[in-house]
Amino acid sequence: MSGLERVGEGRWHSSSEEATRRFGELLGAHLEEGDVVILEGELGAGKTQLAKGVAKALGAEGEVTSPTFNLLVSHSGGRIPLHHLDLYRLDASSGAEELGEAGAWDVVGEDGASLVEWGAPFAGLLSPERLEIALAREELEGADPRTLEGEPARIISVRGVGSRGEALARALDEEEGAW
Ligand SMILES: Nc1ncnc2c1ncn2[C@@H]1O[C@H](COP(=O)(O)OP(=O)(O)O)[C@@H](O)[C@H]1O
Ligand SMILES: [Mg+2]
Repeated sequence: MSGLERVGEGRWHSSSEEATRRFGELLGAHLEEGDVVILEGELGAGKTQLAKGVAKALGAEGEVTSPTFNLLVSHSGGRIPLHHLDLYRLDASSGAEELGEAGAWDVVGEDGASLVEWGAPFAGLLSPERLEIALAREELEGADPRTLEGEPARIISVRGVGSRGEALARALDEEEGAW
């Protein structure tokens, strides 16, 4: 029992950080060089946990953390390189030049797969072909969040953009019942 359940097309329910990492592992198994994955969701939603799962599936070296000073950390040694970006500190109105200063153009769409936390404002700039994953704390109808014990589960929503993005989204949907 992994705590990860597919609850609809492109929609998953994750009841623990391990389950979100497991989702990352499912994704990592499908990633190829040049793939771009945008991760959105508020602070603490689970973007980095998901990235850890991707790194595990690829066999990438080094610990995946929320980079505080670096906007970009590349992990080699796995099936393909993994480029982990966190654009939290970039202004949402930033353009291609600022993305370049963050190192994005050195890696996005090049060798390896790119995972971009806080990438939503820049999604179109980064790549026309991409997988967009949103993580959100589950809101239970009728429940007063102040009375909920512990952490809410997370809802993981997947959207494929462009033919490669759509193919990745389909591949994940076909994972139903695979674990
Ligand atoms: N279902 C879940 N999925 C992911 N993280 C969870 C879940 N439930 C609780 N957590 C906790 O939420 C936090 C997520 O942190 P992190 O992945 O760094 O978020 P982000 O990168 O989105 O800011 C961790 O402390 C983790 O233990
Ligand atoms: Mg993070």
